[in-house]
Amino acid sequence: MSGNVQIKEKMTKAGSAGKPCLSDRKRATDEFPTARVLGIESSCDETAAAVVENGRIVLSSLVASQVDLHAPFGGVFPEVASRQHIRTIYPIIAESLKQAHLNLQDLDAIAVTRGPGLPGSLVVGMNAAKGLVLGSGLPLIGVNHLEAHLYSDWIDLATTDPVALKPEPRFPLLALIVSGGHTELVMMTGHLQYERLGATLDDAAGEAFDKVARLIGLGYPGGPAIERAAKKGNPEAFHFPRAWLDSEGRESRASKVAYNWNFSFSGLKTAVLREVRLIQEQKLNLPVADLAASFQQAVVDVLVGKTLQAAEALGAQEILVAGGVSANHALRQAFLEQDRFIVHIPHISLCTDNAVMIAAAGYYRYAHGQRDGLDMDVLPNWPLSEL
Ligand code: KG4
Ligand code: ZN
Repeated sequence: MSGNVQIKEKMTKAGSAGKPCLSDRKRATDEFPTARVLGIESSCDETAAAVVENGRIVLSSLVASQVDLHAPFGGVFPEVASRQHIRTIYPIIAESLKQAHLNLQDLDAIAVTRGPGLPGSLVVGMNAAKGLVLGSGLPLIGVNHLEAHLYSDWIDLATTDPVALKPEPRFPLLALIVSGGHTELVMMTGHLQYERLGATLDDAAGEAFDKVARLIGLGYPGGPAIERAAKKGNPEAFHFPRAWLDSEGRESRASKVAYNWNFSFSGLKTAVLREVRLIQEQKLNLPVADLAASFQQAVVDVLVGKTLQAAEALGAQEILVAGGVSANHALRQAFLEQDRFIVHIPHISLCTDNAVMIAAAGYYRYAHGQRDGLDMDVLPNWPLSEL
């Protein structure tokens, strides 16, 4: 990146850092030992580090967002992202240890995002983790970023007292992952056990938010911009299609009974584009708020409808929702308003990329005996189904 580009770095403290609490009253079993894990995340445009105890208690959490840096490009610029990770990664790690009042020697393992993500971004976190492992002798654990999003639902930011933690999600869980790169329905039958039911056939839900935001003249990242605009709009102003998909995977707008757990958002995006063109041809002002609200409602209806259908059809106990789009209040509200299932949604600060979730998933991998070597490579394409 050229030297005259101004770098704005935003550091946010997402967790509840505090004095280290020794929680070996709980989780000191063979299956779940007491352990503190440093998590490192750099898969896309957030550099993050966090220390998590027993997979559930946050001792520190830092996120350096690059959003201002990429906004002029209207999306993540991969080379800019990796170079910014290089600048930020060690200060962020040092600060996360400081805020947890811990040294490397006080930790039990180092977990790092191995994939999926941008290759040039992933290698920065991976190499930083390896450097720390070489210096400390701690175990190294490569974590799948999608699995980590799911484990953000095990975190309780409200307490550092292990006996006061909220109840853990109960298996079998029907999990919806909705992020910028993925939209997947997964059956989680136990810790670290996944059966992929379906995924998007085209755009991810977050990607659809980002693309539609651009179409109607809102900024990047699109999700929060659409959500803000939608607050002043009418969700019924435009009747955008809901692609329920029939059992053969064809688009079905008539029936909600699908038993096909894939998603499709490109038809919806095209419908918004068509409407925008029509309005522009008539030289009218774009009703941005109504377009945003109607688009958001269409996405929410399908995400919530399909997740509930799948949970019922497959006999899930409870539902997990995770990933950047789960920060959307309309989506959260729709899940929380129904009374068929208990739905776990991460704290708003843990929906988008962070390192708490990497440390949490890393803890469960550590507890199940995973240890990776210094020859571990990043996996930019790494589906959950391959775990
Ligand atoms: O999980 P995440 O931080 O990164 C990936 O792993 O992809 O998700 C980022 C995505 C972006 O597409 C962003 O527009 C979307 O999550 N997002 C939202 C909201 N906040 C972030 N989408 C809808 N409403 C939001 N409030
Ligand atoms: Zn993510």
